[in-house]
Amino acid sequence: MITVIGSINMDIVVETTVFPKQGETVFGRGFHTVPGGKGANQAVAVARLGSHVHMVGALGQDAFGNELRTILQQEKIDDTFVRTTETATGIANITLFDNDNRIIVVPGANADVSRESIDAARTLIAKSDLVVMQLEIPQDTVEYALSVCEELHTRVLLNPAPAENFKAEWMERVAYFTPNETECADIFGVDVESALERFPNQLIVTLGADGARYYDGTQHVFVKGFKTKAVDTTGAGDTFNGALAHALTTNQSLSEAVEFANVAASLSVEKFGAQGGMPQQEAVLKRLGGAQ
Ligand code: RIB
Ligand code: NA
Repeated sequence: MITVIGSINMDIVVETTVFPKQGETVFGRGFHTVPGGKGANQAVAVARLGSHVHMVGALGQDAFGNELRTILQQEKIDDTFVRTTETATGIANITLFDNDNRIIVVPGANADVSRESIDAARTLIAKSDLVVMQLEIPQDTVEYALSVCEELHTRVLLNPAPAENFKAEWMERVAYFTPNETECADIFGVDVESALERFPNQLIVTLGADGARYYDGTQHVFVKGFKTKAVDTTGAGDTFNGALAHALTTNQSLSEAVEFANVAASLSVEKFGAQGGMPQQEAVLKRLGGAQ
């Protein structure tokens, strides 16, 4: 069983072919509101693959909050520890270009995920095979959750996004750490090779369409990306993380798990929306089988 502690957002997406210059107005070509938030996305990825998942988070007492809670339940994510607070539900303002996206997150209720939220979920954390976190909730809460996980001997997969919220001393407390290349450079300030060599089998760097890599203690392992036509890459990293968590808690080795996660992420980018293309287990296995 996996517990995801993290953000839940409504994604406010505008599709455009041109990006306005300062002071300029342009026409967009589409508008959508779809469920998102790195925490919820990772929980959905886990649930679709068939693992039991609980979410610890917070939503506002508003239309977005109600809608997002219903979606969590439809995805069979246990929402017992998703509090309803006085703050507005978190949103992400997403501008989607042909092959690119830009995201501005307004945390709202995600800022209310607190030490109390973690304490309330202690029994759950103790029972979990893995706790998955990102950095869209307060830094203090992540730090506190890390200490609770340590005390309760529950392993943590930390996806340091956005990277600005990360603290270097956390590395000692996480079993798996999954930045992308930019986040890896921001956090360690050295080239990817050197960073990977410091944290064998712990640091896994995602490379977008190129796949992912890690260092196994003897050699650098590259898991090549599965070439596919991307419609929307929003949430690809979240799919990777959710799938990695699922794979690591179902007896897969690290190399198998990274390969599985890679394929899951490749399927996710083929459909619109962060959660839109997140695959079920059969689809991943089918593509994995075909790819071999
Ligand atoms: O990782 C993608 C997610 O980042 C989006 O769903 C958005 O809500 C932001 O949290
Ligand atoms: Na998608």
